[in-house]
Amino acid sequence: MTEIRRVRVPLADRSYEVLVGRGAAAELGTLLPGSARRAAVVTQETVPLHIAASIPHEVFHIGADEQHKTLETVGELCRGFARMGLTRNDVVIGVGGGLVTDVAGFAAASYHRGVPVVHVATTLLGMVDAAIGGKTGVNLPEGKNLVGAFWQPSGVVCDLDALDTLPDREMRCGYGEMAKYHFLTGDDLLALDMTSRIARCVEIKAEVVASDEREGGRRALLNYGHTLAHALETATEHRLAHGEAVAIGLIFAAHLANVLGRVGVERVDEHFAVVGEEYGLATDLPAGIEVARLLELMRRDKKALDGLTFVLDGPDGVEVVAGVDDQPVLDALARMA
Ligand code: GLY
Repeated sequence: MTEIRRVRVPLADRSYEVLVGRGAAAELGTLLPGSARRAAVVTQETVPLHIAASIPHEVFHIGADEQHKTLETVGELCRGFARMGLTRNDVVIGVGGGLVTDVAGFAAASYHRGVPVVHVATTLLGMVDAAIGGKTGVNLPEGKNLVGAFWQPSGVVCDLDALDTLPDREMRCGYGEMAKYHFLTGDDLLALDMTSRIARCVEIKAEVVASDEREGGRRALLNYGHTLAHALETATEHRLAHGEAVAIGLIFAAHLANVLGRVGVERVDEHFAVVGEEYGLATDLPAGIEVARLLELMRRDKKALDGLTFVLDGPDGVEVVAGVDDQPVLDALARMA
């Protein structure tokens, strides 16, 4: 087994460790609360990683698609927890990608008003983003992730063995989120091997979350590239997956920063080099999307409390920029057509 990296998410009495490496799932037992006598393992039939929980456990399968990320699924899980007699001294273990850890985390946050949860991330996107930082939730017919809670896990496992069988498209989605971290710090992430790079992404996220757990300000930086991405996901009715949309959103954010005079063209080129060349991700706007529709959707973004709002690069690094006029946004979109 290669070395397992341990990254701490420093949140005072709710601090926890993220284990990153091949075979890390074997260390799961070290993350379970000492009080836990039993575990409710929430996963999907399609998840390839089978964890060896060191305590008696029951397995609950949830559906594989986004359509199962609902309050109904959370209700079914909580009824299952009640039937098995799960208590606040026990633990929920979410094993899967972001859908599983978001749903398992929200069920854990809600059942008995909160039971401990440990996540075992099995996708790249889960490892570098979804499983870390305590955002949990489900969709409503009216929109994505509209109901949820901040509920920090007691620990997270990122076992790279799970990536060996991850479908290419899911891997690309992870690269979309991973590319984002290249622009949040000046780190040369490409110089790192995969384990170190994932561990560094977790460290960057942990530092941001520790400084602003409930997204009063700085945590919004983790949404770099996401304003257009969320609009694209909705406009394409999710034919474009989240990480694919983030890749396009990063390029758009670089163009917009350039149009607004915040960065030079060489910085836009750097975005292309990382997103398009290094990670091999598509960077063009999908054909047939109406720009007016994207503008309308971006106005509804959760960050847009004061006009069109984006996370943009600039002389002081990446920051939240509110009150952006329509015209520069249209100009940046036109460059991507
Ligand atoms: N995915 C962004 C965040 O956790 O804040």
